[in-house]
Amino acid sequence: VPHPPLRWSDEGDRGPAVVLLDQTRLPTAEVELVCRDPAELIAAIQRLAVRGAPLLGIAGGYGVALAAARGLDIHAAARELAQARPTAVNLATGVARVLAASERQEPAGEEPKRPTSGDPVAALAAARALEAEEAVASAAMAEYGLTLVPDGARILTHCNTGALAVGGTGSAFAVVLAAHRAGRLRQLWVDETRPLLQGARLTAWEAAAHGVPYSVLPDCAAAALMAAGQVDLVLVGADRIAADGSVANKIGTYGLAVSAAHHGVPFVVVAPRTTLDPATPDGAAIVIEQRAATEVTTLAGRPIAPEGCTAFNPAFDVTPPQLITALVTDVGVLQSPGRDGLAGLLGR
Ligand code: MRU
Repeated sequence: VPHPPLRWSDEGDRGPAVVLLDQTRLPTAEVELVCRDPAELIAAIQRLAVRGAPLLGIAGGYGVALAAARGLDIHAAARELAQARPTAVNLATGVARVLAASERQEPAGEEPKRPTSGDPVAALAAARALEAEEAVASAAMAEYGLTLVPDGARILTHCNTGALAVGGTGSAFAVVLAAHRAGRLRQLWVDETRPLLQGARLTAWEAAAHGVPYSVLPDCAAAALMAAGQVDLVLVGADRIAADGSVANKIGTYGLAVSAAHHGVPFVVVAPRTTLDPATPDGAAIVIEQRAATEVTTLAGRPIAPEGCTAFNPAFDVTPPQLITALVTDVGVLQSPGRDGLAGLLGR
């Protein structure tokens, strides 16, 4: 990926900023979006200029650093940033981690008060550390995931899980890249990922940039492709993994898992430990973001349904653990991930 999806900037006289590669403009334009305060970053998160679970955590962390650098109320900023989107657990945990690092310590013996301004140096260091750790996690997931990829693999993926979604080369996409580099990838099948087309716009763009052999398909063609024996492995990412092993990921993931089970195709989820959420007991407890009907009833800004048409537009769905062949994390592979397996993983 030519531009970093996110960078911290403190140049010029306009002060600190979080600079995003505006993902809503890809693949036709590579345009930077400068966020100078948490409110601008929250707006960017909500319209998906920056997205993908681990990258949302990093963005939220830098958002707290931005609030600290601007002398704003870090607690208020953290609360609003954490609530910008509900499903990816990384957003809330990334924000909480940087908030904790930026809270000023009271000098010994002084009345405890709740200072609203944070320590900008500590905040930025914490955001940078989170970003660096996610990059290390990407590399580890690539290595562990590669052990599950057969020679000459035809891999199907959904949404975007590459450098545009994490702080490194990716989750599921990092495994795809590792397979390509190892000479094991015959074909990458890219679900277009309705309605916002993260597959067609973003994954295809990343695959092209890396010389990965790929083809885009409508989401509704995936089952037919499996029936035709053209898919050896499904690799997807995750936005939140509940304690029972249920996986929330981009809408359409559950349907893919059902199809994969029916056709005997391994269905593998790739996610860093930062996406595991032991505080959410099961899939039913995961909050699913509902988005505007217009994302479904318009295409490239033009109406494709009658005026006033309503729509069911959840951004994510939940795949139960029984449909998941394996979970690849940054500390290893868990076969048939369920409650016990996840508890063991978190203990590591
Ligand atoms: O709505 P998005 O684009 O933020 O959804 C992203 C996904 O569903 C990804 O598959 C998930 O975050 C995993 S990315 C490593």
